[in-house]
Amino acid sequence: MSPNEVGSIKLFSPIKIRELTLPNRIVLSPLCMYSATDGIANDWHFAHLSAFARGRVGVIFTEATAVEARGRITPHCIGIWNDAQAEALRPIVRFIEEMGSVPAMQLAHAGRKASTQKPWMGGKPLTDENCVDGEVPWPVVGPSANSVGQGWPTPHALDVDEIAGIVKSFVDAAVRARDVGFKIIELHAAHGYLIHSFLSPLANQRTDAYGGDLQNRMRFALEVADAVRAVWPQELPLFCRLSAIDGPPDGWTIEDSVVLSRELATRGVDVIDCSSGGIAGAPRFRVSDSGKPMNTIMDRGPGFQVPLAEQVRQQAEIKTMAVGVIINPHQAEQILQSGQADLVAMGRELMYNPFWPLHAAQALGADADYNMWPDQYRWAVHRRAQLADYAGIQDKPEVS
Ligand SMILES: Cc1cc2nc3c(=O)[nH]c(=O)nc-3n(C[C@H](O)[C@H](O)[C@H](O)COP(=O)(O)O)c2cc1C
Repeated sequence: MSPNEVGSIKLFSPIKIRELTLPNRIVLSPLCMYSATDGIANDWHFAHLSAFARGRVGVIFTEATAVEARGRITPHCIGIWNDAQAEALRPIVRFIEEMGSVPAMQLAHAGRKASTQKPWMGGKPLTDENCVDGEVPWPVVGPSANSVGQGWPTPHALDVDEIAGIVKSFVDAAVRARDVGFKIIELHAAHGYLIHSFLSPLANQRTDAYGGDLQNRMRFALEVADAVRAVWPQELPLFCRLSAIDGPPDGWTIEDSVVLSRELATRGVDVIDCSSGGIAGAPRFRVSDSGKPMNTIMDRGPGFQVPLAEQVRQQAEIKTMAVGVIINPHQAEQILQSGQADLVAMGRELMYNPFWPLHAAQALGADADYNMWPDQYRWAVHRRAQLADYAGIQDKPEVS
């Protein structure tokens, strides 16, 4: 696509972060597939992630990738704590790069929210009674011996040596990710998982150097960031996903996120990915009396977390990624044009339509001649448009 076609459209403008140029601002948000065996990615993961590369998504994140076995959300989540797991990802990385997109990995430890069923099997903590197909529940860990809530297991409170061991697992995982060719690492510090549970006063009740005041609760997150940055190439970006707010007034706040983001920036984190919630379990979808989709935190309307990305961007002076019910190309473009975020991440909309970027380019008038499409498709899609035009059929995708 020539610069003339893109014009002033930000969604399709490249952005350079450190020495890496992202081809556009559209990011596949990490999406657990619950489809691996022994943490090893398989054909499903290739088919899943390669679709977004064919659709010209700029940055393609793996699902939450566990840094150790007990850090998986379910027994079917992928991991990168051994070489076989890393090698299984190599063809995916290669294909994403061949398509001109950027392969990115979200590194995660599920902490006290580990050892659960797949969502479509109920998503509840595994027990000896509810497990199927050889699933076996395992002991979970956290900052303190308090559970997510009723029905959740009580975690083992990590001691200082064990914390250091998990920091080392993040480092080893980052090295493996680097060696198979990933270009961005995102630290998962959101959704109630291990790093978030250290940050939030709702989960962290420690009285040592890792608990108590904000500085102490941030210690584990900052140690992970420091340690990963030390092995992650200087020319490549490091992202961090935060739950920018917990929700309850006595929980983690947006002001805390601004403080943490500033600290992370000084440690070489380049982008804050602003999500929210999850400290007290999965946000249950419900509809308010007025018919609005809600969770326990806030109205979940279009772009509901964008103001969080905007506030962090302005007050912590760091690049941000907005995520959450970003669906419409004009909406996505507006978020970028108004300076609320530097990147837009999308999950469910891209699952619904992996070719969303190509369709969005049509809707925004950025690619009239289908030049963005892969060679293998372009000529035929162009012919399709001519045939549709001849037949008087409206052929444009319904994305606007
Ligand atoms: C099936 C599914 C799996 C998800 N897996 C992850 C994950 O591995 N890591 C993560 O940080 N968020 C995960 N999320 C949250 C998404 O990345 C995203 O933040 C959320 O879906 C909101 O964006 P959306 O409205 O565009 O879907 C998942 C969401 C869905 C629907």
